[in-house]
Amino acid sequence: MGDPNEETESFIRKAVAANLPKRCKYPRAIGLLELRRAIAEWLDKRFDVSVDSEYELIPTLGSKEAIFTFAQVIDLRPPKNLVLVADPAYPVPERGARFAGAKVMRLPLTEANGFLPDLDSIKARTWKRTAIVWVNYPNNPTGAVAPLSFYERLAALAIEHDFLLCSDEAYSEIYFGERPPSALQVPDRRNVVVFNTLSKRSSMTGYRSGFVASSREVIEALRSLRPTLGTAPQEFIQLASIKAWRDETHVTRTRERYREKRSVMLEAITKAGLHVAGSEATFFLWIAVPDGDTSQGFAKRLLEHGIVVAPGSFLGAHGEGYARLALVPTLEECKHAAALLGRLL
Ligand SMILES: Cc1ncc(COP(=O)(O)O)c(C=O)c1O
Repeated sequence: MGDPNEETESFIRKAVAANLPKRCKYPRAIGLLELRRAIAEWLDKRFDVSVDSEYELIPTLGSKEAIFTFAQVIDLRPPKNLVLVADPAYPVPERGARFAGAKVMRLPLTEANGFLPDLDSIKARTWKRTAIVWVNYPNNPTGAVAPLSFYERLAALAIEHDFLLCSDEAYSEIYFGERPPSALQVPDRRNVVVFNTLSKRSSMTGYRSGFVASSREVIEALRSLRPTLGTAPQEFIQLASIKAWRDETHVTRTRERYREKRSVMLEAITKAGLHVAGSEATFFLWIAVPDGDTSQGFAKRLLEHGIVVAPGSFLGAHGEGYARLALVPTLEECKHAAALLGRLL
């Protein structure tokens, strides 16, 4: 599971305590303006994009619930009732689409295509039926990063064929080379919806704090739906989140910790003669299983020795032949796992 075994920095924990009121009212779905401002400032600093904190942002209870419920604000009546998702993939966008009654089509992510969907293979009649396309870069599970040109092409297609490009950017800050771009950076972002979260960048999975950034129309729709769902983050969490979005030094420290764990595991895996595919960013390593082995067989073998990995096939049919290793244990635990791997493979 992508739940980092990392301490949340003390300045964030202290902010929660300092903002805990005697009487804690229902949080409002639109979220605190001060938090929306902090998020808009972060988007400006990080991606050089100007997002209106008044109308183009909404805080969410982490990003998972927002990803799952998103299809519910979209008109999915036939013939435009198709949602495109990736395979392999984080399963929540597909489940959300199915619960909303949509049809789902999976786009294969293959190593040959840099784990990007092959947009040229999608037929005009498919685009015609498409209401939403989900993408997630840096990618879970493959660790691949999408170039800005990919978002530009897809955002242009979204306008041409009248669908929404939903970009789950939960791992945008877990990188080791160049900083990954955001779909918000395309020249015309009319049909772009971006989801991001403090879970990974600030090791705040349990706090549940994220946001959606999109057009005024989409945010307006979410503002109408979300009071019924009751999924606004608690205000003391929103106030602590302001501090987390306004600080980058702790994120740099977090990246450094993942970089260390990554190099320990990469060395062990390469020494064992295994091929690591994708894996440019995120805290996942996407390992090709040894020839003649299956994803599940490989994962089972490692499990018997105390190493838990996700069989790629559990994340979609195109995940077969791979296993996902998450760098979520501590550095010491990773060193232990590296030593085990050396003996085992
Ligand atoms: C690809 C991806 N998107 C979104 C999330 C949701 O994270 P959260 O709800 O903590 O923001 C996760 C969590 O594992 C993830 O892997």
